[in-house]
Parts: sequence; C-alpha cells; structure tokens
Amino acid sequence: MNLSARQLGEENLPEVFAAILRDTGADPSRLLLEITETALMADVEANLRVLRRLAEFGLRVAVDDFGTGYSSLSQLTRLPVDVLKIDRAFVDGLERSEENRAVIRAVAGLGAALGLKLVAEGVENDAQRQELCACGCEMLQGYHFYRPLIEADFARHFQAQQADGGEANAPSLYYLIYVSRAQVEVGTDTLKALRQVMQRRNRLEGLSGCLLYMNGEFMQMIEGQREAVEALMRRIRQDPLHRDIRVVVEGSAARRVFVDWGMVVHDLESLPGCSLAGEDDKAASPLTFSRVADDARLCYVLITAHASGGAQRR
Ligand SMILES: Cc1cc2nc3c(=O)[nH]c(=O)nc-3n(C[C@H](O)[C@H](O)[C@H](O)COP(=O)(O)O)c2cc1C
Repeated sequence: MNLSARQLGEENLPEVFAAILRDTGADPSRLLLEITETALMADVEANLRVLRRLAEFGLRVAVDDFGTGYSSLSQLTRLPVDVLKIDRAFVDGLERSEENRAVIRAVAGLGAALGLKLVAEGVENDAQRQELCACGCEMLQGYHFYRPLIEADFARHFQAQQADGGEANAPSLYYLIYVSRAQVEVGTDTLKALRQVMQRRNRLEGLSGCLLYMNGEFMQMIEGQREAVEALMRRIRQDPLHRDIRVVVEGSAARRVFVDWGMVVHDLESLPGCSLAGEDDKAASPLTFSRVADDARLCYVLITAHASGGAQRR
C-alpha cells in the first residue's frame, strides 16, 4: 500500500489504520506500507512518531524508490523500516552497467547489515533477474514477471500458480560448504585462473559465496538456486585440481550471506593466530580445513566471517 507524504503528515493516520484493522479484521503483518525515501526523510522526527505507532499495530514499512532521495543512514537505523525497495533507475540497464551493479551490491550489503529485506523494482528481463539474484537481491518485481493485472486476471493467474504447486515451485535458495585437498600445492597463477573462471561463471549462474585456500586445502561456500549449486558441485567434483572433497553442510537458506556476485580466492596463510588448540595439545596445532570439517558450525563461522568485505579484497 502506497502512503503519500501528505497522508503520512495526517495527525490521525494511526487511528485511521487502527479503525480499519479493527473493522475488517485484516492481518496487519500482511500489509506493507510503502513510503518514498524522499517523503520519509522530509521530516524524520514526525515520521518516526507515526511509524512507531503503526509498527506497534504490526504493520510493516518499506522505503520506496530507495537510492533516489537523500537518506541519512543514521536516521534510517532509527526508523522502524523492514524493507528497502531499490529504485528502478539502478535496475534499468543493470546488465550493462558496472556502476549500477556496484550500487546494488552496496545496497544489498546495507540491507543485510541492517537486517532489512530487499526488493528490486522495475525488473524487465531475465539478464536483470540473474544479476539481481547474484547481487543477493531475492525479491523482485517488474514487467518481466507480470504487467499490472485487473482483479479477475490476477485471481486467475494466482489460482493457476497455486494449482501448480504455488510457493513450492518458487526457486529456493540453497547453500553448501565443502572442504577438499589440492592435488599439489596451488600457485598464484592457478588461483588467479580459477578466480577468473569463478567470477565469470558464477555471475552468469546467480551464484555467490567464497573460496578459501590455505596450506594446500580449499574450503568453499556456494549459495544460489539449488539446481545451480548442484550443477556447480558436479563440475567441481570432477576437477583434477583437488581430491577428498567432503561436503560439510548443505541446505536451504532464507537469505544469502555473501552479496558478492562471484567468488574470490582468499588466502588465510598470512593471517596471524590462525590456530586451533587440540584437547590436550600443549602447543596449538595449525588450523587446517580438514581438521575442522567435522564441525559444520565452525566451518560456517569460519567462512561466513569473510562476508563483510573480506571476500572482496583479492
Ligand atoms: C576448489 C575449486 C573451486 C572451484 N569453484 C568454482 C566456482 O565457484 N565456479 C566455477 O564456475 N568453477 C569453479 N571451479 C572450476 C570448476 O571445477 C570447473 O573447472 C569450471 O567450472 C569449468 O567447468 P567446465 O569446463 O565444465 O565448463 C572450481 C574448481 C576448484 C578446484
């Protein structure tokens, strides 16, 4: 539901919503109020009061046209906002613009850090859809899916989709972590070549994640649509560059950890203090991926720690 700046400024707006919810019995958690970034930031103090009251009723708020106004990030964190809707201006031509991709990756990072859901507006073709998925944006809207429909057509499409399995048919996000041993110690040139293949292929296939290489061992996290993750794993298993491939954990995920569109090689060798004390070891023994592979949680923590910028470094 779109709320205009004028409506937001009406003193009795919370009372109006309270009355409507009471009279209709509507479930407030299924209502999303969309307010443009410009309207939201025009008078933060006044809007904060109104939005807090609306949030108390269980209504959720989305910042519409995000990226076109002048958001103060410190103010954004104060507002009870649940969703950022990335303006279509950044989606338009996304498949050709590295700048737009950079903006979307940055907004996806911001959304992940603040625990906000992301919606991209104005998706018009499959190339844009793939780019957005690869940037970590899971919710998309635009003509690529449907043009605006009259109510009867909407109901028909909706029913047909439900009959088709509905949500069960929606592509699900999947993740997987594995460890492996390099066949021989891998040099910089090989890692560089691998990085190039990964960047190109993973972007195309909407995969994100991270590859760690340390002391002759790999640990990799892959995220994306399940079919794409499984297809990549089949290729990786056949790669003569490594052996003893062991999947540590896999399953469905609600959202991506890595917003990067591809994977990069991250070398931990230079990190100080990278050691793991054994139960009764006097001296700490070196951390190796095969040693921690029994502990899925530890692997998860180890690799996802690279999500906040670390994976982009090299
Ligand atoms: C440790 C390791 C990780 C890899 N990760 C990826 C990856 O993330 N994406 C990818 O496309 N290829 C990755 N590869 C390379 C694939 O095994 C394969 O060589 C590449 O996808 C090309 O496949 P193709 O020759 O069947 O087209 C990886 C290889 C190794 C050894």
